[in-house]
Amino acid sequence: MSLVGKHLIDPGDFTLTEFDSVFQLAEKIIENKEDFSEICKGKILASLFYEPSTRTRLSFESAMLRMGGKVLGFSDANVSSTSKGESIADTIRVISSYADIAVIRHPKEGAPKLASKYSSIPIINGGDGGHQHPTQTLTDLLTIRTFKGSLQGISVAFCGDLKFGRTVHSLIKTLSRYPYNRFILISPRELRLPEHIKYSLDNQKTIEIIETEDLESVIDNIDIFYMTRIQKERFFNEADYVRLKDSYILNKEKLKCAKKDMLIMHPLPRVNEISYEVDEDDRAVYFKQAEFGVYVRMALMALLLGVYKNA
Ligand code: CP
Repeated sequence: MSLVGKHLIDPGDFTLTEFDSVFQLAEKIIENKEDFSEICKGKILASLFYEPSTRTRLSFESAMLRMGGKVLGFSDANVSSTSKGESIADTIRVISSYADIAVIRHPKEGAPKLASKYSSIPIINGGDGGHQHPTQTLTDLLTIRTFKGSLQGISVAFCGDLKFGRTVHSLIKTLSRYPYNRFILISPRELRLPEHIKYSLDNQKTIEIIETEDLESVIDNIDIFYMTRIQKERFFNEADYVRLKDSYILNKEKLKCAKKDMLIMHPLPRVNEISYEVDEDDRAVYFKQAEFGVYVRMALMALLLGVYKNA
């Protein structure tokens, strides 16, 4: 099994064994970061962000720098030749000769996939519209694996914007590939998980899915609580956003009924949906989750570039 030269556009591009190899390497990196400080010497990451980002862009860039490589790119499409009308196909053809690997975030669903068709270097999807965010999923799975010890037989609640939330779409699809997982979907009616995603889940015959608008009625029976932001940028009108934005706010009071070992996760950024008082709770792991994003992206790039030989 080798990941060398592969693209990661959708979590379904990797087998569970390939996911495991990324996690095992990420765990080695966490244990001994110094051992990996030069493995990408001479390599260049192109960081192409057509949409705002803090964690994904900076954790990818940090990951490459921590492995001794270099980074080029842009964080605003208006300063690239896209603003002159250049297509993503032409952009990536050119960048293939400037860098060894590229991460692309784009507001249009499918843009990183299109780029991969014209690329001679590995392309990583850093989030495309409301579609997929596979490296957030790697980050989330490493977090669950670290704190829970397993990716199967768990009750996972997704709360907030399940319609447009690409982190939810990627994570639920991936978790459905592991056996005996149970999903609780908590959202306003308008922001429910799209039917096509529900029907694309694995283990269709045995999978248990509960849908509710009422967080309090289900909070006592959850192992992983995955909160998400109501995403202003995906709404067509301001009034709907204002009406729905504070649908769920997790606070200390609501957590009184939750399991003592329930993990509280969030891909971040947070707006209002988790009260700051929750940050002190031992169950809140969202900042650790963001940190794991660096290690898992180090592992991913090392494997795609073939600079780590012992996976
Ligand atoms: N989780 C995540 O994708 O965050 P950014 O939008 O800051 O990259």
